[in-house]
Amino acid sequence: MRISHRSIEEVRETANLVEVASEFTALRRQGTRYVGLCPYPDHSEKTPSFSVSPERGFYYCFGCQKGGDAIKLVSEMKSLSFVEAVSYLADRSGVQLEYEGSSPAEAEAVKKRTARRRNTYKALAAAAVYYHKYLHKSSNAEQARAYLQTRRFHESTIEEFRLGYAPPRGRSGFIQAMRRLEIGREALDDAGLLSARGGERFAGRITFPIFDRRGRIVGFGARTMGDDQPKYLNTPETDIFNKRDLLYGLPQALEAIRKERAALVVEGYTDVLMLHQVGIKNAVATLGTATTPNHLKTLSGYADKIYVLFDPDAAGEKAIERASATAAELRLDLRVLRLTEDPADWLLEHPAEEFKELLSTAVPVLEYSIRRIVERTRGSDATSRSRAVPEVKSLIQEIRDPVLRREAVRLAAEALGISPRELQSSKTRATTRTSGQRLAVPSDPHLQAGWEVLALILTRPDLTAEPLEKGITSPSLPESLILKPEDFADEEQADIFSVLREHAGEDIDSILSDERIRSRMDQVGALSSEGEKLYPSEASVRQAWLRLGILSRQRAKRGTQDYDAKNRLHEEIQRLKEVLRNNPLES
Ligand code: GTP
Ligand code: MN
Repeated sequence: MRISHRSIEEVRETANLVEVASEFTALRRQGTRYVGLCPYPDHSEKTPSFSVSPERGFYYCFGCQKGGDAIKLVSEMKSLSFVEAVSYLADRSGVQLEYEGSSPAEAEAVKKRTARRRNTYKALAAAAVYYHKYLHKSSNAEQARAYLQTRRFHESTIEEFRLGYAPPRGRSGFIQAMRRLEIGREALDDAGLLSARGGERFAGRITFPIFDRRGRIVGFGARTMGDDQPKYLNTPETDIFNKRDLLYGLPQALEAIRKERAALVVEGYTDVLMLHQVGIKNAVATLGTATTPNHLKTLSGYADKIYVLFDPDAAGEKAIERASATAAELRLDLRVLRLTEDPADWLLEHPAEEFKELLSTAVPVLEYSIRRIVERTRGSDATSRSRAVPEVKSLIQEIRDPVLRREAVRLAAEALGISPRELQSSKTRATTRTSGQRLAVPSDPHLQAGWEVLALILTRPDLTAEPLEKGITSPSLPESLILKPEDFADEEQADIFSVLREHAGEDIDSILSDERIRSRMDQVGALSSEGEKLYPSEASVRQAWLRLGILSRQRAKRGTQDYDAKNRLHEEIQRLKEVLRNNPLES
């Protein structure tokens, strides 16, 4: 069986070369490319001559003259065959591989599938033309034309974005017209153009074709002109229409995004239209979802700076947090602006210049997140405000770049009205207990270490899932340090640990659905509130793991009479201590 050409193409297209290459060498952005030291083992160099073009998906080393695409890089760096490298990348980017059967029947099936997909694209393109013409020519479309006029969209905008109008029910020559183009029902259905009843899905609505990055139409958004629900009807999800990956207006905006190295992400199709119309051409819209990491990845190939503009009543805060992490990884300058009105409506009453001024007040995403946390505690007393400290602190600890981190500390300290030092210290501050029957933190170091590990697991399942399952690794350890229930000082901790380990990586809600944990709610409550004060980070998790590993081995060493065992444990302890010493909490 061979991987189909389409699949290989898709893998090439979706593989993010910058991300892939960053696994093998540190890359730095330089204009539209990324540069770094050549990762090829037989070419060691001191000045970077390895260059990656994210737009074209190619790399080249000016020193050793090696070059290629993501597939080649992976296969050479990891010594994989072509097929292995393709599957590796497919897994990474979630591409479903198709195989070309070696048997005639299988080959036939593949051919059919390819033809079917081609027909889907063809149907979508034909429908867009049909709707577009219908909007301009049909007398039935007068109302639609009038509607677009009241929305103040110019003819040139309607043209550029190929807006259209789907014939109202009962007046449709659509299916017949398609048949004349040899596009049958099956293709129309595959393309999502038909409703469940077999009629036209978008009948009587203004159509907004949605293009992929390469300019192919992959679906439609369709707006009612009245009060019908839903206001917008989109193409249902198909393998070519995935709303979490697509951005409305991307091909139209690409040139401007590239030129300005900046993109605007708004919420509405009509906002994109109006922004373009007033000359702000680097705007795109999500398809009714919040901005996803995939959206940012797509845009990061063309822009360094991204503005996310969102509605004041939109939930999106969680999404912004996720976007923030992705932006940091991609080294994107992500800024957010909350609006009081949709840009399309606002621009009817204000000049574009004013919009640009507004844009300059967009807040860097980190500052935004910190402000949101602070806002939640605003007006409350100092004690409640201090409760925001751990949350802000863990946000700050996620920032790897020391300059950005200092900046964030300054900001947060100002906002919370505390000294920056309180946000920088990595040690657990002794806080005064106010109320509640919180369990005291044990004073015995072994108990204390176990307590910390459990608290970390409960508060940060994301950080602790891997250490729980795979252990802590280090070049100086012959095998990874995996904690076992026996490592804990007492039975109670060991029991809690056993259960938590079974739920590795799950969030607190799902952990708490386990009956064995529910019977220990008070300990769990205490642990999770302590956990927040530990300012969890990857480093603090490693540290807690190592400390408990060391203490349990010290106990075992004291408890055994066997000299071989004593020696072995002694060596293990020394090694773990060394790793702990080289694992400073703050870098
Ligand atoms: P106008 O009301 O014409 O200005 O459109 P808008 O794009 O500003 O709409 P709105 O601000 O209400 O919604 C923003 C975006 O959310 C839209 O562009 C759609 O992508 C999406 N959306 C809004 N309503 C619906 C709906 O009912 N169904 C779906 N699937 N998406 C919707
Ligand atoms: Mn609107």
